[in-house]
Amino acid sequence: MSVLPGMRYPAWRGLIEHYRDCLPVTDDTPVVTLHEGATPLLPALKLSAALGGGVEVHLKCEGLNPTSSFKDRGMTLAVSKAVEEGARAVICASTGNTSASAAAYAARAGIRSVVLVPNGEIALGKLAQGMMHRAMVLAVEGNFDTALELVRRISDAHPIALVNSVNPYRIEGQKTAAFEICDQLGRAPDYQAMPVGNAGNITAYWKGYQEYLKGGIVKAAPAMMGFQAAGAAPIVDGTPVSDPTTLATAIKIGNPASWVTAVAARDESGGLIERITDRQILDAYSLLAATEGVFVEPASAISVAGVIALNERGHFRPGDCIVCILTGHGLKDPDRAIAEAPEPKVVPADVDAIVGEILS
Ligand code: F0G
Repeated sequence: MSVLPGMRYPAWRGLIEHYRDCLPVTDDTPVVTLHEGATPLLPALKLSAALGGGVEVHLKCEGLNPTSSFKDRGMTLAVSKAVEEGARAVICASTGNTSASAAAYAARAGIRSVVLVPNGEIALGKLAQGMMHRAMVLAVEGNFDTALELVRRISDAHPIALVNSVNPYRIEGQKTAAFEICDQLGRAPDYQAMPVGNAGNITAYWKGYQEYLKGGIVKAAPAMMGFQAAGAAPIVDGTPVSDPTTLATAIKIGNPASWVTAVAARDESGGLIERITDRQILDAYSLLAATEGVFVEPASAISVAGVIALNERGHFRPGDCIVCILTGHGLKDPDRAIAEAPEPKVVPADVDAIVGEILS
């Protein structure tokens, strides 16, 4: 690649370069990157204080990845490997974020992308992303589980690379988030809280923590705490949900592909997977934005809602370090934000009227 004279790139050149030794790439792998990763780990000062009991909560802000969700971690690797293997197109089923990320990385790589989304069921920002990156966006008359089944059949029969998290490179890329948390904290947290949808991400984090543990980089791994929406909680129920419902559309999934590895992560880590109501999700969603200054999409707020619920049951001890994974940015779902927050008040263009409003 030619670089303009005098132009300097920042030290961070994406997670493949940073964690190259821990990833299945070679010097021949064409790295397709938008410089994803290196997301902030923020102390949640107000939340920690509100929970009481001396717990320390941190927020891993994955919505600050290039397409505003954690999917970019897996997609940089999945698309790089697809290009290395000669693919000219990628395909995925998605509740929105995977499709946005696949479309962006395919655009970057100069290959085609085809994304299947449940018709009318994905948040507006995510739909806009797929369209702008010029994916072929197909709105399927069916839910996510049906769409995933369709893309599996299509990629089995045709030369088009599947980039859902059933693709092992997705998991490899996403495990780097666990590395980052350990690198940022200087240790592993005691607990990690996260949403569970298709269950690839909990699988990936657990793999990452185990690798750091085996490599002697950390001395312990966290208890993995996964949360599913009450109307879409197949792992909690122990049986698939044929018609999942939740306003957290990102995790509206009734039959997760990585079910077995999610249960393994839960059990091997001494963790749990529990259900959280939409009401609890919305309360945490508003709380994060209003008191921490962190705007996430509803599915991401389930991490915090879960910690609040467990704290009320006396689950934590003083000094416990808890990391909440905030998987996607709030701007992904502007409709939900506008439905939840107070409307702007229309005022005349007049100083006295405006001051009157401010003082009222
Ligand atoms: N949070 C967000 C914002 C998501 O978009 C997803 C999944 C999850 C959490 C759950 O992660 O599936 O690995 O358990 N979104 C997928 C998609 C299904 O199509 O964008 P998971």
